[in-house]
Amino acid sequence: MRHLVSIDDLTAHDLHGLLDLAASFADVQAREVRKVPALRGKTIVLAFFEDSTRTRTSFDLAARRLSADVINFSAGSSSLKKGESLRDTIETIDAMGVDAIVVRHGSSGVPLTIQQWTDAAIVNAGDGWHQHPTQALLDSFTISQRLGSLEGKKIALCGDILHSRVARSNVAAFSKLGADVVLIGPRTMLPPNLDGWAAKVEPDLDAVLPDLDVAYFLRIQKERMAESLIPSEREYRARFGLTEERAAMLSPDALIMHPGPMNRGIEIDPVVADDPRAVVLDQVANGIPVRMAVLYSVLGPGQFDGVDSGANEGVDL
Ligand code: NCD
Repeated sequence: MRHLVSIDDLTAHDLHGLLDLAASFADVQAREVRKVPALRGKTIVLAFFEDSTRTRTSFDLAARRLSADVINFSAGSSSLKKGESLRDTIETIDAMGVDAIVVRHGSSGVPLTIQQWTDAAIVNAGDGWHQHPTQALLDSFTISQRLGSLEGKKIALCGDILHSRVARSNVAAFSKLGADVVLIGPRTMLPPNLDGWAAKVEPDLDAVLPDLDVAYFLRIQKERMAESLIPSEREYRARFGLTEERAAMLSPDALIMHPGPMNRGIEIDPVVADDPRAVVLDQVANGIPVRMAVLYSVLGPGQFDGVDSGANEGVDL
């Protein structure tokens, strides 16, 4: 694997390989010394052109725990502010001899575009509405960890599907891993057609809740909505929010998931966000071994090409 831009570029075999590798790195995280020398001598730039707390921090920790050198680059404090173009910025970073660029950008397609301007490996940390592949991997990892696997599991993604890169990536990953995925949300927040979506639309959240293995709630993307797509937050909560009454309809073994940051009281009630079935903080914690697996796969000795590739060789676990 040379770059990671989209879940669509990976087969089920690749996904299983990455999840297996992440499990090895999760074992490392449980040790007293949580660091391995796997990427010693490599330089990774975190180029975040859009705000982020968890994604940026966990890429940073993942890179450091692989012993790579990490440079943090923030659009807000860079020469972009002085009018430098994205291309000049990337070529400047490239000229310093970096091995990988982890990029987050508000526009879809940026991680693919910048591949022309650098020899570094590109890892997409979220681009516009398009993709957020490491989120899909850490969510798949969390579900496998809790439920054994995704095979045959019924998963609902509820909320603002249309503006969500998390929804696009997760539907692709979950369905490739054998889950049955349904989408639920206001009509204005659902894709106009399902071309390219390996999922069905369900009109009624309450009708599906009792059958779900995973109820995944998406954030209302206030900053990405061109116009108001919901009558009010209160009405949204009444129809699509995970209220306490709805949480009571879920099976005792079901998982409640959210990528964060949560709008407590809109898509998820504050009490429900702290329900024992909610695995939101597991998702955050799993971001580190999953991103270690991704960085190792694009930069490590022996290119990753699936479970049998011996991707672990050379990792001093
Ligand atoms: C998501 C993102 O930025 O795409 N957050 C995250 O990375 N955990 C989801 C969101 O912002 O709604």
